[in-house]
Amino acid sequence: MAMRETILKAIEEPMKRYYEDMTTVLGNWQPLERAAAELLEGRDVNDEEIPEVYLPMLQMMRLIAKVTRESEWDWADPRIQEIFKDKAASPLYGIFTRVMAGTVSAIFSNLQIGTLVEVGAGPGQVTQSICEEMVKRNQSIPLIISDRAPGIMQVREKLARAFPSLSITAHIWNVTEPPPGDLVDRLVKPVLVFERFCLPYAGHEAIDMISPIADILVMQDDLSITGRKMSFDLLYEKIGTTFLTFSEAMRHLKKYFSFIHTCDKETTEAINSGVTTFTVALK
Ligand SMILES: C[S@@+](CC[C@H](N)C(=O)[O-])C[C@H]1O[C@@H](n2cnc3c(N)ncnc32)[C@H](O)[C@@H]1O
Repeated sequence: MAMRETILKAIEEPMKRYYEDMTTVLGNWQPLERAAAELLEGRDVNDEEIPEVYLPMLQMMRLIAKVTRESEWDWADPRIQEIFKDKAASPLYGIFTRVMAGTVSAIFSNLQIGTLVEVGAGPGQVTQSICEEMVKRNQSIPLIISDRAPGIMQVREKLARAFPSLSITAHIWNVTEPPPGDLVDRLVKPVLVFERFCLPYAGHEAIDMISPIADILVMQDDLSITGRKMSFDLLYEKIGTTFLTFSEAMRHLKKYFSFIHTCDKETTEAINSGVTTFTVALK
């Protein structure tokens, strides 16, 4: 079977599960958007006013509104760290982690992959799930994790202790720049690159830095289909995130990949969302 068909078949199952998770847990995003609009106007929103599943996101947005009114946003601020930790551990993020790990591992289980590369790995939640999948599936594909933050080295140490049978290396890589030479030297083709929620901080142009090394790219980022900014986007812009659009991401991806697939079309329609979140691209 051609690579394209193999991948489409492999990701069917994790995407079906994602559809079920999202349509059961969410319904639609309007309450969160309304809350963002209120916060932008300088009003507060009580926890009881939105469905519980959105609470960690409401707390994060409330904090963004408050902190950016008073001072500069600083990720090292302990209040921010604390709330981000809760957000990352929330059921909604659990769904995002499961589908990402499910998609990447479905691909490497069905296709020979030489190297896995994660971009903007942060605290390594997705990485950990992918390591668990590799061990469960009795595989050990060399894994390179990267981030612009030096903390990636400690993340590697922790993962290497937890998964001694796996080969994990780490590199500091700011993806607004080309990959470091020692990372490129480690690559064995075909290379599968994946990233989650890094592009909002690095911008569309980072696609031009990560795509040249990727034979397969899996991206999990909210890409606006309409190109119209929502209150949610305006609030997050206050902390320096880029408003990502589907059309601009496609313009960059098309320079490198012959096949680009939006994996979550049905989910987007079912939950009445203005963004698509999962893209798989092949050379
Ligand atoms: C929201 S966190 C996501 C972390 C992880 N991917 C996850 O989904 O849990 C964004 C990550 O992107 C990293 N990042 C932001 N800009 C970057 C850049 N230009 N190059 C590399 N990493 C970057 C940050 O350091 C942070 O770890």
